[in-house]
Amino acid sequence: MINKRTLHRVAVFVSVASTICILLFCQTSTRSFLTDSCVCNCAMDSEDLLWFSQRYKPSANVTLNTKNSRLDWQTYWWWRSLQNESTVANYNKVVEVLLSLFPDKEHYSDSSPSRCRTCAVVGNSGNLNGSHYGPLIDSQDFVIRMNEGPTDGFEQDVGSKTTHRVIYPESAVDMDETTHLILLPFKILDLQWLISIFTTRHIDLTYMYVKPSIKADRNKVMILHPAFMKYIYESWLQSHGQYPSTGFISLIFALHICDEVSVFGFGPSKEGAWHHYFEDFGMDSNGGPHDGDFEGKVISKLHQKHRITMYKGWW
Ligand code: C5P
Repeated sequence: MINKRTLHRVAVFVSVASTICILLFCQTSTRSFLTDSCVCNCAMDSEDLLWFSQRYKPSANVTLNTKNSRLDWQTYWWWRSLQNESTVANYNKVVEVLLSLFPDKEHYSDSSPSRCRTCAVVGNSGNLNGSHYGPLIDSQDFVIRMNEGPTDGFEQDVGSKTTHRVIYPESAVDMDETTHLILLPFKILDLQWLISIFTTRHIDLTYMYVKPSIKADRNKVMILHPAFMKYIYESWLQSHGQYPSTGFISLIFALHICDEVSVFGFGPSKEGAWHHYFEDFGMDSNGGPHDGDFEGKVISKLHQKHRITMYKGWW
């Protein structure tokens, strides 16, 4: 005989089980809706996925911390050859001081299928002039700018928000308390300079005059890993040029820490000149240590394969 208590227990069980089933169903259909509408982490067809996965290394160390700072010899010598230094300090000792001064952690290791971090990578190309991209750029979660690329006076075309600025000593500018300083180090002296600008302020010369101090929040400093630069050079650029440009490194940095990447301000003028939106000058885009053409081709491929959205400006 089934008594009343058993009947009650069965009823409670059925009701709990059906609630769980409904919740699971809702979650699955929301996911498939998100996948279909492709907001973030969009699915790629197998050919695109192959191209991407041959280049993208999810395990790459992006920024320096105590756990990952040691360099193997190949990385050390590749990195040391980028800009010849006359006097060389001990890398490990410098890094030890460095990581005692700045946040020593794995930044942005929170990747998950449900995260949808949108990022704008803003290069310094003159194709931003007259673009009216400002509001679109500012609507992204992260806005990553580089070198001296200003916002004051250019808000309509480039926006006003800067959450991250990628610099090296020779390109450094002041930044406000909302901005993360991201050092792109090309030599040991660059690491020493970063220490110096927040402490002794005695370094004002690399291969040229550099600012001995800049305004920036010490708690928001990050240092790109030399091995990350080598990975980009070898895996993404197949060793074209001498080393990747600041813009290309910033873009791949964004691919690693963001879920949706929009790219602005990249590309030479129609005449092939390297020009800036904030000043009147132009030079051949393939001059210098970077292979601008090859970088451009990889960026176009990333756009075709829906891993980034490239905004090309209006001229
Ligand atoms: O000239 P600068 O190095 O400050 O520019 C930052 C980045 O913006 C470059 O590394 C490059 O990737 C991008 N850029 C570009 N076309 C230009 C100027 C800059 O693609 N005409």
